[in-house]
Order: sequence, then C-alpha cells, then structure tokens
Amino acid sequence: MWLIRKKLATHAYAIVFFILFGICLYITFYDKTISPTLPVITPLITVHTKTSSGQYLDVHLDLATNSAMCQKHDYLIIYVLSTITNVQRRQVIRSTWGSKQKGVCFVFIVGQVSGTTANAGEYQLKINNEKREHHDVVQIDHFESYANVIYKEIAALKWANHFYPDIPYLFKTDDDLIVDTILVSSIGKLLLTNVSLHDSFLVQNRPNLVSSIISSNRETFFRGGWATDYQPTLRDGKFGVSENVWPHAVLPAYCSGFGWFMSKNIRERLVNASLTYPIEKAAWVGDVFVSGFLAKEANVKCTGLEIDFAQTASANCSCLMVNNPMLTVCSSSFHSGGGGTEIQRYLEYQKAWQVIQLRHNSTNREIYAC
Ligand SMILES: *[C@@H]1O[C@H](CO)[C@@H](O)[C@H](O)[C@H]1NC(C)=O
Ligand SMILES: *[C@@H]1O[C@H](CO)[C@@H](O)[C@H](O)[C@H]1NC(C)=O
Ligand SMILES: *[C@@H]1O[C@H](CO)[C@@H](O)[C@H](O)[C@H]1NC(C)=O
Ligand SMILES: *[C@@H]1O[C@H](CO)[C@@H](O)[C@H](O)[C@H]1NC(C)=O
Repeated sequence: MWLIRKKLATHAYAIVFFILFGICLYITFYDKTISPTLPVITPLITVHTKTSSGQYLDVHLDLATNSAMCQKHDYLIIYVLSTITNVQRRQVIRSTWGSKQKGVCFVFIVGQVSGTTANAGEYQLKINNEKREHHDVVQIDHFESYANVIYKEIAALKWANHFYPDIPYLFKTDDDLIVDTILVSSIGKLLLTNVSLHDSFLVQNRPNLVSSIISSNRETFFRGGWATDYQPTLRDGKFGVSENVWPHAVLPAYCSGFGWFMSKNIRERLVNASLTYPIEKAAWVGDVFVSGFLAKEANVKCTGLEIDFAQTASANCSCLMVNNPMLTVCSSSFHSGGGGTEIQRYLEYQKAWQVIQLRHNSTNREIYAC
C-alpha cells in the first residue's frame, strides 16, 4: 500500500504509473481477444532474490483462479506438493492413495511451467484441464524450481486458511511418496473425536499413539513422523543455507517434508508469520524452512509423532508396508532415483495401495502377503 500512496504523491510518477497500467490492461485484453485458447502469460517471479532487502516473503497466489474445492465439513486437507509436469503421477495418485475418502480433501500444489521447458504451453493447457475435471489443483504464480518449494508450502497454508478457516487439520506430503492415507485420516478422525474403537487398526498396532493423540493439545498440534532437533547446517548444495540466513552450526528443530500434521491454529500462525518474514532470511529448502525457520518465527514447534516413515531406494514400498503396519509414508522410486521404467514406478503405487486397503480391512487383515 505504501508503494501506491508514494506514487500518487508525485504527478510524474502517477502519469507513468497509469500509462504502464494502461499498457498492461491493453496487453492482457489483446492477448485474450486474439487467442482465447492460449493461457494468458502473467508476469512471474522468475528467481527469488536472495540479496534484495526490505522485502517480505510474499507468495504470489491468485485466489480468484484457485477457488474453493473441499467440502465445508471436511475434517482434513491432505495437500500434496507436486510439479506441473507430473500429470500422469497425479492421475496415478488419484486412483491409489489419493482416492476419495469421506471428510478428506486432497489438493495438489503446483507452480508455473517455465518458458524454457519444452511444450510449456501444452502443460498449462493440461493443468487447466485437470483443474476443470478434478478440482484438486492449486497453482501458485511462481515458476517450478527447487527453491520455490517454500512458496508452495506457504501457498497451501494460505489457500486453506482463506477458503477453509474451519477445517481443523492438515496433512502435508509430496507426490513422489507413497502414503497410507487411510492411516493418516484415521489419525485426523481421532484428533477430531477422541474416539477409537478397540478393534481399530491404530489401537491394535500402536495403542500408545492413540492415547498420546487423545491427550494432545489440539491448538498447538504440529507433528510429523520425522522430527529432528540437531541437524547440522549445510552451507552448499541443494540443501545449503548461507551464513547470513543462519550463522549457527545446527538448524532449528524441524520436521521432514515426508509428512506432518498441523492444526488450523498452527496454520494461521505460520501464514501470519510469513507476512512479515524478511525474504533475505529465508532458507530455500521447503520442509526446513516452513517447519523450522518459519515455525520458530511463529513461536511454534513441529515435534515427533509415532508413525513410521521409510526412505529407501528398493522400490519396494508394498513389501515394506506388509512387514510394518505402521509404515505411513514410504519413498517411491521417483524420490530415491531407484531404477525402473515409469510404468514400473506407477505399479509400485498400485501394489502399495492394494496392501494399504487390505491391511485396514479387518475381515482380511491376515490374508495379504508381500
Ligand atoms: C478430546 O480430548 C482433549 C484433551 O484430552 C480435549 O481437549 C478435547 O475437547 C476432546 N475432544 C472431544 C471432541 O471430545
Ligand atoms: C493472524 O493475524 C490476524 C490479523 O492480524 C489476527 O487476527 C489473528 O488472530 C492471527 N492469528 C493467529 C493464530 O495468531
Ligand atoms: C521386495 O521385497 C520382497 C521381500 O523382501 C522381495 O521378495 C522382492 O523381490 C523385493 N522386490 C524388489 C523389486 O526389490
Ligand atoms: C473388506 O474385505 C472383504 C473381503 O475381501 C470385502 O468383501 C469388503 O468389501 C472389504 N471392505 C472394505 C471396506 O474394503
């Protein structure tokens, strides 16, 4: 707002401003009239500016084109960080661990395809179709990049906070993972009701988890399968955090992006904290930033939850899930770079989903095998 006021203060600025505004309007309008089927190219943030100062982390998310799509009475939003080009992977997830469940809303978070990607326009058309057909995609106005994952994380919270202030719980995960969403939703249900039948899967397999969830504080509920307090700060590479951002040898406590639960209160606190978070103090590693740095700023903490995660290159999540009923999130070969063709990798999602469904069905709990 201060920017606009300052500009209006001087006539010269005001004139320049209105001319530019006019040009923008003209370009937008012109684009639409000559090629109504092509996506309108909006100005995008190409790269985050690590050196700029005085700016806050400002996620660009158009709420008008990313409308509401959950049910008002859902109790859990499972948001899945994805990449615009992973069209087929989202399709496989929708028919496996992202299958519809009562009270649970699945949302994929994607970015913008960069102009240098082959068939960029085609991918935008595809995502538009997905949005129309499935109503489960939120697209931020930042290009796809590893660093911009932090914008996806914040956008998911901001979007949910805006449209569904009353949906009490969220679960975060990624599209290269295989997730027992039946287990995840049963934890959400337990948080909501405190009721767990004595023969339920959770009670049978991890009774301590049930009592710990029932007695937990719902306001501050922010817990993941892998929480860490003492990870060394890396200075280089994909996970590098500069001295300027964080001079300390160990990172703030954070949870792995494989999966975490959060209450709506934590969600709002994180969104609030992002609004005044200086961009030059951001660490461009999604999970470390949101559940660590931003959480610290918001004065909240992500702690551990007794569910099991596995990171493996074996491409064998289905067998791992047979052998460990509490394995909730398992890395697919997309994550770990294990071998296999695309088709084999999708088969892994399907096999694991079979196991997941069978193990939650008390009538044939003992039947399934690896
Ligand atoms: C569940 O238990 C917690 C604390 O043990 C309590 O604060 C909460 O109100 C209970 N919720 C329901 C729905 O009974
Ligand atoms: C977030 O900020 C808004 C606006 O300042 C405030 O009304 C709200 O209470 C804050 N939420 C939390 C959870 O602190
Ligand atoms: C997965 O594990 C099972 C049992 O440990 C084994 O029989 C099977 O060959 C493994 N599959 C792959 C693809 O590694
Ligand atoms: C559980 O398994 C039985 C036997 O295979 C099947 O008939 C039933 O539909 C399954 N229930 C669910 C909820 O999937």
